[in-house]
Amino acid sequence: MTEAIIRPPTLEEKSSFYQVYETGVPNVDALTYDGFSRWWNRSKVLGDLLALWRVATVGDEIVGVAINMILDSFGWGAIWELVVAPEWRRKGIGTRIVQESERALFERNQNLTHFAMGVKLHNPFAIPFTEHLGYGIQSLVLRLDGTVENKTFSNNLDVKIPRLDDIPLIMHLTPDTYWGLRDYRKIEFSLRGGNCYLMTEPASNMIVGFARFEYDHDYPDSTVISFSYRQGYGRAVVDAALNEVTTKKAILWVEVKHEIILDHLYAEGFERTETEFLARKRVKGTV
Ligand SMILES: CC(C)(COP(=O)(O)OP(=O)(O)OC[C@H]1O[C@@H](n2cnc3c(N)ncnc32)[C@H](O)[C@@H]1OP(=O)(O)O)[C@@H](O)C(=O)NCCC(=O)NCCS
Repeated sequence: MTEAIIRPPTLEEKSSFYQVYETGVPNVDALTYDGFSRWWNRSKVLGDLLALWRVATVGDEIVGVAINMILDSFGWGAIWELVVAPEWRRKGIGTRIVQESERALFERNQNLTHFAMGVKLHNPFAIPFTEHLGYGIQSLVLRLDGTVENKTFSNNLDVKIPRLDDIPLIMHLTPDTYWGLRDYRKIEFSLRGGNCYLMTEPASNMIVGFARFEYDHDYPDSTVISFSYRQGYGRAVVDAALNEVTTKKAILWVEVKHEIILDHLYAEGFERTETEFLARKRVKGTV
């Protein structure tokens, strides 16, 4: 086994971190340097960069990187992006980075119940890799992209701008993806940032959906939609959200358990552009 040192990155290592990170595409998110840089700077301010991000070094060379984060609302410590430079693979370095990342995540928050890793479909070997580390595949999330320009979706819900008073009810809706929105502070942060919509049933005024739009510099012309809904209203909430989109395309990450929504989006011409497995393991007894 190669003796690599696993440690937090130094602030001078931003571009060398990114160079190793890029060797993992398409198995990790394809980020522009600007997008990566924004993530790095945000994590630096929050303290996550030094507490949670990790590099593996051999001598002066960075040979592996991990971007880790805590998903408070779920109690998960996530090893979100993990890359070992191609010439250094199969030497136990990935395993060491994961073990040290788990330690760092747990140190930062001892209430964690699970560790989580996202595994893209492009790399079938990453599945045995996570299993070898004690993780089990637990769900599958699809990214669907579609053109919405000049289209109107059937809509029988009222759409409003949500207020802070609505947060407790928004928290009871079912989120589209596992990282979802069941956290008061995160919803409040989203509402204050704007681009949020609340869907209500016209007759009863009952809250049945919530959607948040994001505009990612890496996907020009697209709106990335995350949504939550009350059981039975998934399709209507998605349609109401799609009607609010002003860009050419919409992007939604949808868990495969939301079959009715997937069936509807495919029928509307949306196409799958990415697939990610969620692997998890319980924290108890592992650290
Ligand atoms: C996935 C990745 C991080 C693994 O890093 P690594 O340093 O090569 O992993 P390790 O050497 O610690 O491998 C541990 C075990 O995982 C399994 N494994 C790892 N890579 C494998 C491969 N290509 N084929 C089959 N099994 C593999 C093996 O069981 C291996 O043990 P072994 O070498 O004793 O047989 C690396 O291949 C990588 O950076 N890939 C591109 C980015 C990526 O896929 N990231 C998502 C990770 S979840």
